[in-house]
Amino acid sequence: MDDIQGFEDCQGSWAQVRYRSFDMKTFRILGLETSCDETSVALLDVDAKQKIPRVKIVKHAISSQIDIHAKYGGVVPEVAARTHVPEMVSLLTKQLSRAKPLESFDVIAVTKGPGLATALRVGVNAAQTLAWLSGKPVIGVNHLEGHIASAWLIPSNRKKWKFPCLVLLVSGGHSELVLMKNFCHYEVIGSTRDDAAGEAFDKTAKLLGLGYPGGPAISRHGEKGDPTAFDVPRPMLHDPSLDMSFSGLKTAVRRIVEQEKKRMKGKRLDDLCASVEQAIVDVLVAKTLHALKIHAVKTFVIVGGVSANKRLRADISKAIRRDFPSVTQLETPVEFSTDNAAMIAAAGAWRYLKGERHDWKKMDAEPELHL
Ligand code: KG4
Ligand code: ZN
Repeated sequence: MDDIQGFEDCQGSWAQVRYRSFDMKTFRILGLETSCDETSVALLDVDAKQKIPRVKIVKHAISSQIDIHAKYGGVVPEVAARTHVPEMVSLLTKQLSRAKPLESFDVIAVTKGPGLATALRVGVNAAQTLAWLSGKPVIGVNHLEGHIASAWLIPSNRKKWKFPCLVLLVSGGHSELVLMKNFCHYEVIGSTRDDAAGEAFDKTAKLLGLGYPGGPAISRHGEKGDPTAFDVPRPMLHDPSLDMSFSGLKTAVRRIVEQEKKRMKGKRLDDLCASVEQAIVDVLVAKTLHALKIHAVKTFVIVGGVSANKRLRADISKAIRRDFPSVTQLETPVEFSTDNAAMIAAAGAWRYLKGERHDWKKMDAEPELHL
């Protein structure tokens, strides 16, 4: 198989990715995502004839189960898995060609982990069936790499993405500072010791009766509130490590709620939401600045569901411009920040371009997978 030509001068990025057995320079990749409570299917065109491969979303659909899980105040794994099955069938039949479904794609990418075991298996089984019937190659994707690859879906980021790059990955299940040395090369330099940032949003929102998911609700109320109104802890803010901890927040909020006696609403609720949001944001900003002090990087990007938070994006971008003006901030892929299959297809494309091919017969969900 021939090596890819033409990436030599692209700033130490694709040039350093070793191409092995790359057999298609343009291809359409099908992405499948079922790791938690979103069923999603995407088709992405990849053009690797370019110096830096170009990607274009051809089709993308997400079926969210939020309404179903909201009733329970959080995701119920068994319900999530059972709901993925008909949703996956429905999305695939809509997104793939009716006449020749197996000719709608050249490569399959599916989230294999981390996530809920039974939910992941729905996507993995669908990918295995498609791989078996079509004979097309399949790539099992790490969901966390998917979140990072979501930034590749923003055209302006492609050429700006230089290495090393610092990634702040903040989702419902993960809060990690990742030193990205190249595409597909990661070193986790900081992570949460307990709850993830998204979990802190979700758990405090539940205590305040704001439903699931908590992040958007807290930030909606927080926009109207005073972030200095309540004294909410900022755990490990001055700890010399890059690790974080968010579980103390829910304890603090529980105490405030208990002291209030009646259900919080109006200005007081807005103030508490703003204070909680600001505490989470302050910790994330401080840890990011600390990481930038220790590691000389060229670029920075925030990804994951919590990166949809406006206050976080505004504060972090202002702080980096002030303290590290030479670091280029990539655009945050807000519309792809929460779980979606386009980012899984993008990460699958990185791996495929590297020459990875996975055996569909041996593929299984890997709920505890890490970067
Ligand atoms: O990345 P994601 O969709 O799922 C995981 O991989 O975990 O992230 C979901 C998380 C939830 O915890 C949700 O509350 C949070 O992202 N989130 C937000 C916002 N939108 C979603 N958190 C803060 N502010 C938001 N605007
Ligand atoms: Zn996710």
